[in-house]
Amino acid sequence: MARIAYVNGEFIRLSNAAVRIEDRGYQFADGIYEVCLVINGEFWDRDGHMARMRRSLSELKINFPVSDNAIGVVIAELLRRNRLTTALVYIQISRGVSPRNHPFPNPAVEPALVMTARRFNINQSDAAAKVGASVITHPDIRWGRVDIKTVGLLPNVLAKQAAREAGAIEAWLVRDSKITEGSSSNAWIVAKDGTLITHPKNHEILGGITRDTAMACAQELQIKVEERPFTVEEACGAAEAFISSATNLIMPIVKIDSHQIGDGAPGPISLRLRGAYKKCAPGR
Ligand code: PDD
Repeated sequence: MARIAYVNGEFIRLSNAAVRIEDRGYQFADGIYEVCLVINGEFWDRDGHMARMRRSLSELKINFPVSDNAIGVVIAELLRRNRLTTALVYIQISRGVSPRNHPFPNPAVEPALVMTARRFNINQSDAAAKVGASVITHPDIRWGRVDIKTVGLLPNVLAKQAAREAGAIEAWLVRDSKITEGSSSNAWIVAKDGTLITHPKNHEILGGITRDTAMACAQELQIKVEERPFTVEEACGAAEAFISSATNLIMPIVKIDSHQIGDGAPGPISLRLRGAYKKCAPGR
């Protein structure tokens, strides 16, 4: 069946869907995006994704007069037209189309909204979590506002490619000897005393929505969380490690570069948190 995309008010065959060449998203990466999970028709972490989308738009001063409810209606219709009930949904909003010039168009133009949906196999993700994955470390060469979810992802793309070439699932980005986050996920370690450690939510990381929910789950499970940067050395000596993102949920990490984490199998706290996340995210 042909895949269907949503482009500025229309549902179009993905293979025919196109944006204008003077779309500022295309020319300047002047736009934002979200990736969210819908499982069995239920939008996971909906409020968090919508709130972060609004924040990203506001940080870029893009005026986007479409309600969260309207976005929800489009997502439902997109899934229906693609005959999907479980999917990864991609939402991109750029500042719009205007003759190429660095300043914002004046008067403002209408933002361009594009959405796609792709099949997601949660059983495959569960199977991967039972085995665990590996990460490499890679220099964090990104700009100073990675807390905004912009489509300008070239350093992330290069880091992820380096990971792929090393047979790893993710690249953990290193700045000033500290791990900030992954190229498309947040990075966590579990100390020997069972405390979760992850980088604080500031301008050096993207505040993951999965991270927020995992944090709430940890609190419910009475697992202590410390929000502070950690070094590669500390990570290599940790009891457990994992990543969090909409595409990975909570995914145990069993190797960092050539160092095995713990006994090389997914850790019990990581797996417990993954289970808790799956229960908690559908209602949020
Ligand atoms: N990426 N950090 C970065 C740099 C990310 O790109 C992402 C998400 C996250 C985790 O955020 P969340 O838990 O809200 O998914 C952290 C998405 C999945 C992507 O670019 O495909």
